Amino acid sequence: MSDNNMNETSAGKATMEKITSLAKRRGFVFQSSEIYGGQSGAWDYGPLGIELKNRIAGFWWKEMTQLHDDIVGLDAAILMHPRVWEASGHVENFTDPLVDCKKCKSRFRADQIPPENLAAKKCPDCGGELTDTRKFNLMFQTHIGAVEEEANVIYLRPETAQGIYVNYKNIVQSNRMKIPFGIAQIGKAFRNEIVTKNFIFRTCEFEQMEMQYFVKPGTDVEWFNEWKKRRWAYYEKLGVKMDHLRWHQHGPDELAHYAKDAYDIEYLFPMGWKELEGVHNRSDYDLSRHSQFSGKDLQYIDQETNERYIPFIVETSAGLTRNLLMLLCDAYDEEQVADKGNDDDIRTVLRFHPAIAPVTVAVLPLMKKDGLAEMASDIRKELKEDFATDYDQSGAIGRRYRRQDEAGTPFCVTVDYESKENNTVTLRFRDSMEQIRINRAELTERLRKEIREYKRVK
Ligand code: GAP
Repeated sequence: MSDNNMNETSAGKATMEKITSLAKRRGFVFQSSEIYGGQSGAWDYGPLGIELKNRIAGFWWKEMTQLHDDIVGLDAAILMHPRVWEASGHVENFTDPLVDCKKCKSRFRADQIPPENLAAKKCPDCGGELTDTRKFNLMFQTHIGAVEEEANVIYLRPETAQGIYVNYKNIVQSNRMKIPFGIAQIGKAFRNEIVTKNFIFRTCEFEQMEMQYFVKPGTDVEWFNEWKKRRWAYYEKLGVKMDHLRWHQHGPDELAHYAKDAYDIEYLFPMGWKELEGVHNRSDYDLSRHSQFSGKDLQYIDQETNERYIPFIVETSAGLTRNLLMLLCDAYDEEQVADKGNDDDIRTVLRFHPAIAPVTVAVLPLMKKDGLAEMASDIRKELKEDFATDYDQSGAIGRRYRRQDEAGTPFCVTVDYESKENNTVTLRFRDSMEQIRINRAELTERLRKEIREYKRVK
């Protein structure tokens, strides 16, 4: 992109248009069913997108399970007994207030149109008459089995959390977990969202990374504060711009039906400050309700003191797909560079932490001929066991670097004529564009060290 092509306000900045366009161009995210005109609320993750999504999930999973002796994992089914959603309060309370325009048939969330339009029952688009506000349940409902009748109603889960609550006793028993302990899960969730704009920010099908921490009543506030601290530190470790993050405490009108207290971590997306993750004190609401609706005793028995109680739950709930959007926006940069041999002087670069970059290292032969391509292929083969790699031999080297920059690849290894003479290669760093000469045999160790010690500078 040349400087002239960028309008003044968006120059150098991540905008939703630029992110959406780059995501499609480079195979991060495609519109679902595009050849049929697209399916709103659903998106497909392409070759770079699925790598990025898997890597974010892996980073979160390591952070929340491997690095905590007291947290174990779970993968519960999406389809659950319909009584689960009565107990959880979702059948009754998981609703948005909606109004319809009788004339143009548009549907709006009542809390998202100007209050004067709502009061006058006047459509903000066409001026037509609006219906009364009614509650619209966000859960997708279908029928299981051959017969479509009330008794066969089943829901697509709107949050992964309930799969954890209904398995809490199984996990205490099978894994001898002692309070306080946590259960972590990553999985799909579905919500019939009426407003699905801003790319993958709010979608009908999405993924969550949730952790439910079971604590003794009375210690919940302390643990709630502890998990707020830990989740903040998580984003610091991920190398996110910390001045783009802030806390937002839910006021009484915003609190979900289950929450005693709730804070969102908000991120400064191109369209403004928006929720990224929630940390919730869910009190004993969920387990008490499941106890009541299932008739099963879900009390925890402390083996040492013989105390019995329904644990309180502190929840950390992050959107995986929303995190992916955040990381694309956060990593996006346009930089003035003075590289010779390129047809522009602006490079687009995604400054992902190397631990989550879709490709960790790209191997590039300077020329295809004279055995350089073969040597580069061999090096890629060596690196494959330890890193996500790419290989590119087409076009000028400067252009190839730019392609890798735009995909967020933190390291490039270039094989040139000197490589054939003395088994050294060039290691190029994405962020600084610095190049060093290094022995081929030292590559793996050096890359490991660079990933471990990575600190974002820009
Ligand atoms: N279990 C609690 C729960 O689901 P939530 O605040 O409704 O809480 C948690 O959702 C996170 O899930 C949000 O912070 C957001 O990152 C993500 N999320 C929620 N709805 C979403 C949607 N329609 N599309 C994408 N991500 C969504």
